[in-house]
Amino acid sequence: MAEGRLEGKTALVTGAGSGIGKAVSTVFGREGARVMASDINEEAAGAVASQIEDAGGEARSLRTDTTSEEDVQGALQAVVDAWGKVDIVVNNAGIGGPQYTWEQVIAVNENGVYYGCLHGLAQMIKQGEGGAIVNLSSMMGVTGTTTPAGPGGVGYAYHASKAAVIGLTRQFGLDGAPHNVRVNALCPGWIDTPLIALAKMSEELTNWMVDGTPMGRLGGADEIAKAALFLASEDSSFVTATHLVIDGGWTAR
Ligand SMILES: NC(=O)c1ccc[n+]([C@@H]2O[C@H](COP(=O)([O-])OP(=O)(O)OC[C@H]3O[C@@H](n4cnc5c(N)ncnc54)[C@H](O)[C@@H]3O)[C@@H](O)[C@H]2O)c1
Repeated sequence: MAEGRLEGKTALVTGAGSGIGKAVSTVFGREGARVMASDINEEAAGAVASQIEDAGGEARSLRTDTTSEEDVQGALQAVVDAWGKVDIVVNNAGIGGPQYTWEQVIAVNENGVYYGCLHGLAQMIKQGEGGAIVNLSSMMGVTGTTTPAGPGGVGYAYHASKAAVIGLTRQFGLDGAPHNVRVNALCPGWIDTPLIALAKMSEELTNWMVDGTPMGRLGGADEIAKAALFLASEDSSFVTATHLVIDGGWTAR
């Protein structure tokens, strides 16, 4: 078998039990990384770790609520305890939709990413071998939008929190640069995961998402995972403190 692009690396992925986090964990495992699949849904994280192991990779799982700084620190420590170091952190856990309050969205999408960057970078600097942090922002962090559902775009808190992730990425990227710790963000467009299940129940909203995407379709979680692999691997060795939009053309309209 060819050498994987993450051979010898260890990775913490938050929100690993579903959608993009699941795809990222699977691709990282296939590329040789030892993956700590963490999620607030312990069972889902466990299933992803088992799937990676069944495919011949190495993975473990644990329950982490990223709104808790202590939990995030614990997840990083669990990677150190298991494999001696943390090379990659993917701050992926996120929520969105009208069912959540401002406080809930900010707690997961903004605070959770902050804790992962703060303690992930500190751990990597301590290790002295560089590293890569990948944060999940959104195209909604670089643009507002008008939806058929009324004002507020996809939610004020969602827009604000995803823009904050880009701000955090820039600043932690600057702080990590002298230590060869690269920090980057991904800004996906509409990706077909359980996150947009509610919107997909409406034909009007589904058409709005698809028709508004110049490529005329939703993206797949695997298409975001490939970009996460790029940002986590040596292929992006001079890329830091920036964000990559992957939206089928949505934000260029
Ligand atoms: N799907 C899209 O269209 C889209 C677009 C742009 C950005 N994103 C972002 O990508 C990331 C992943 O989204 P997805 O589409 O895979 O969603 P998803 O709902 O399929 O998966 C999110 C996962 O995060 C977990 N999670 C939620 N709150 C958590 C918490 N407090 N602590 C730990 N885990 C928690 C959930 O249990 C779930 O397993 C999110 O940050 C999301 O905002 C998604």
